Amino acid sequence: MDRDILLILKDMSEKIGVNAYIVGGYVRDKLLNLESDDIDITVEGDGIKFAFMLNEILNGDIEVHDKFETAKIKTRDFELDIVSARKEHYERPGMLPVVQRASLADDIKRRDFTINMLALDVKTNQIIDIYNGADDIKNKLIRVVHDKSFVDDPTRIFRAIRYSGRLGFKIEQHTEWLLRKSISDGDIFNVSADRIMNEIYLILKEKNPEPIVKLMKYYQLDKELFCGIKINTTNLNTSLEKGNTLLYRFLLLFYNATNEDADCLIRKYNLKREYLSGLSDILNIKMNMSNLNENVSIFNTLKDKRIEAISAVHAMEDLNIKQAIEKYYDLAKLKRLEINGDDIKRLGLQPSPIYKEILDKILMDKILGKIKDREDEIKTLLHYVEKVKRGEKI
Ligand code: CTP
Repeated sequence: MDRDILLILKDMSEKIGVNAYIVGGYVRDKLLNLESDDIDITVEGDGIKFAFMLNEILNGDIEVHDKFETAKIKTRDFELDIVSARKEHYERPGMLPVVQRASLADDIKRRDFTINMLALDVKTNQIIDIYNGADDIKNKLIRVVHDKSFVDDPTRIFRAIRYSGRLGFKIEQHTEWLLRKSISDGDIFNVSADRIMNEIYLILKEKNPEPIVKLMKYYQLDKELFCGIKINTTNLNTSLEKGNTLLYRFLLLFYNATNEDADCLIRKYNLKREYLSGLSDILNIKMNMSNLNENVSIFNTLKDKRIEAISAVHAMEDLNIKQAIEKYYDLAKLKRLEINGDDIKRLGLQPSPIYKEILDKILMDKILGKIKDREDEIKTLLHYVEKVKRGEKI
């Protein structure tokens, strides 16, 4: 498959007479014998025209950003990002750069680390390695090529530790000195909250975020960024079969947050609704931890909580709590009653909030083992409906 795409790119660049190069992560990963389905292509010339012609053959979904002269093609097997070769300058540290068209050499120079600065000429299949990136890959080193790299784009601090944790590479000595300086100078505060949170999500989406989060802690990146929360570095490589793994890992990362910390995090990073409710579910479960000792209170404490929050508590707490949660999962299997509102309606009650009250009560009886099957449910339902009709409390 890779060979096919390489041949298509070669044909295309010969046909329209432009130089095109595969750059960045794809080339790095090839040298490391790692699979990669993200291909970044830099075209010396009109990248968008190239992208449209390429997509006539690939027949994928194409998305174009005229303003940035970039295009994305998604096919079944690959995601291709195509750009016109560019140079960039930063008018202010931490802001997005101003770009203009340029040669491959300029385009390479603007990039973060030497391991991402290799280019593959699609016409000749030759690797162009201006900054000795191949040596750094061999020696497992992450290295910047100019001293302003982290100042211009402080998100590269996160990128450096992401590559270091993912690939097991060391941050080269001078680069590490620059990185530490950038952290202690607070360059990261020039970056918007959205971009910072995006880097955190990228870390948590990695196959194994744990070594990366440990590096975050090692370089004390968490200290100022996360409202003083002591981030957790354990259990982060686990995934959820059901539920949203990214949210689950986020909740693990901030497992130690207090109410005030969570409020601060929410305000600072404008978090999505499910992140808010996940954080508040964890705080609520922690507050009621001493109730997790018998069926009804276990069920009542956990019944409306997000699966991601319950799973995070399960991962982090001791055996007693783990067992209580497992009990809850058993109980929750009973959670579905076989009867519903239609059955109540048939018995002649007008729809009202009393329906929920009745069904909740029957559910609780089922959890307590007083009720087993549909027949029992109907019998109990009749009993409650009669009471309501008589004007009695159920
Ligand atoms: N890049 C950069 N500075 C950034 C972001 C990206 O220099 N802040 C450059 C890097 O050279 C990188 C390329 O843009 O190789 C593409 O970025 P991205 O897709 O994020 O990285 P990949 O190299 O594809 O690596 P990954 O495996 O993490 O996706």
